[in-house]
Amino acid sequence: SSNALGSRFLSSVYQFRPHSLSPSLPGPTSLPLLGNMLDLTRDHLPDHLTSLARRYGNIYRLRYGKTTMVVLSSGDTIREALVKKWTDFAGRPHSYTGDLVSGGGYSISLGDYSQGWKMQRRLVHSALQRCCLKSLHAVIERQALSLRQVLLTYKDTAVDLSEDFTVAASNVITTLIFGKEFTKISAELQSLHSCLNEIVSLWGSPWISVLDSFPLLRKLPNPPFSRLLKEVERRDKIIRGHLDDHEMKIQDKETEDTITASLLQHLDKPGERNDKGTLTETHLHMSTVDLLIGGTETTAAWLCWTVAFLLHRPEVQWRVYNELRSVLEGRYPQYSDRHRLPCLSALISEVLRLRPVAPLAVPHRATKDSSIAGYFIPKDTIIIPNLYGAHHDPAVWPEPKAFKPERFLEGGGASTRALLPFGGGARLCLGETIAKMELFLFTAYMLRDFQFLPPANNAPPPDLRGVASVVLKAKPFRVTLRPRPL
Ligand code: HEM
Repeated sequence: SSNALGSRFLSSVYQFRPHSLSPSLPGPTSLPLLGNMLDLTRDHLPDHLTSLARRYGNIYRLRYGKTTMVVLSSGDTIREALVKKWTDFAGRPHSYTGDLVSGGGYSISLGDYSQGWKMQRRLVHSALQRCCLKSLHAVIERQALSLRQVLLTYKDTAVDLSEDFTVAASNVITTLIFGKEFTKISAELQSLHSCLNEIVSLWGSPWISVLDSFPLLRKLPNPPFSRLLKEVERRDKIIRGHLDDHEMKIQDKETEDTITASLLQHLDKPGERNDKGTLTETHLHMSTVDLLIGGTETTAAWLCWTVAFLLHRPEVQWRVYNELRSVLEGRYPQYSDRHRLPCLSALISEVLRLRPVAPLAVPHRATKDSSIAGYFIPKDTIIIPNLYGAHHDPAVWPEPKAFKPERFLEGGGASTRALLPFGGGARLCLGETIAKMELFLFTAYMLRDFQFLPPANNAPPPDLRGVASVVLKAKPFRVTLRPRPL
């Protein structure tokens, strides 16, 4: 639901009661007992937190019960916390239900900052790098071509492309994790993805996040919670099956370059001491879940936004198409062509700016007493990096709400260095390299081969406000595709 993000924040902050915060830190009036709960449960939370930033500044506090959270809404404040003082703010809040969905806090995204977490992140990062270096480009190219085949079948019918984008993004990540053959078993892939989606949306629902704040309620019957536990069990069974399968086929040529094969080399050996350089089965299992969840809905949502914005400004589509035609002279692009395709790169940057698909990142936790912008921030304060707010800061971006890719072209005045769609520092998105190559190649392939048109001549263009949960998605919309002449 659209309130999922708010309720998830409420529950994650409830248990932390920082001793004191600088009294001068500004923020909206907080009601007795409720605090700023009404602000936190607003529809489209990123938009609401951004409008509060225009009133209270780029760093302000919100209260909930005795808990204080600090919202950062500018590039400067976010970079100070996440990059410059990265160890001070690398923590994650703990929660009862977070532990349940992450195998006891063993996922990268929800795991707190610790020696074990650092090891896990480092090993997964190098496995990713190794695998990406060998096969990422080819894997994405193959998926871009099969997406093309699917789009060709639509002829002149108006279609919602979100499902096809999800399949394309999901195939890329599952191929990297499990190897080529996995994507052939599409029914199972479908089932895994519906299960992961269900977990993310149930976990975000108020019925479940309320259990973090009110332990007594855990004893009462709660159908959505039972459903969540069932889905987690189903997820674990599917993934367990594939990891076991993979372990058996480790000698197989098809699987030797996968992320899983790399990680299996670092697995604890039975009977050996659980030493520093190794991963447990749970680490391996939950890292796989992290990559599957992190790598699918984000990329798919971004592709939908791109189509939605292009329907609003068809001339941008023409400009990118003409650039692709004249620079590539008929061939398909390589990622290394991006520097010769400024219009396409500007389009990608502008969509990342306007709709950073993880708009509030993931809440951080101060691991010690520290400060941001001169304000004292006590240990355990929850920090919300409002990436959406930073990307709409009028001091940095003139006409912040306008879709103007040309601002990133020479002389346009904007710099990609001011963008923060992947966060930064210790918690920088682990899939940044994968995501950037996907956004580039998928968009280039599609705009080379198709023209995106409104479903009917006088149909209104898609709604651009979107629905904000953990991922910021466009409302469902339809589009017609016209193949470009060869
Ligand atoms: C975390 C953005 C695609 C895996 C994050 C965060 C952001 C983000 C903002 C939170 C950073 C923080 O907590 O400060 C995006 C965007 C994407 C994208 C905009 C695509 C357009 C991907 C892909 C993968 C991935 C393709 C995996 C292959 C992860 C993981 C984390 C993460 C594992 C948790 C990192 C941690 O807690 O240390 N992402 N992401 N993401 N992302 Fe992505």
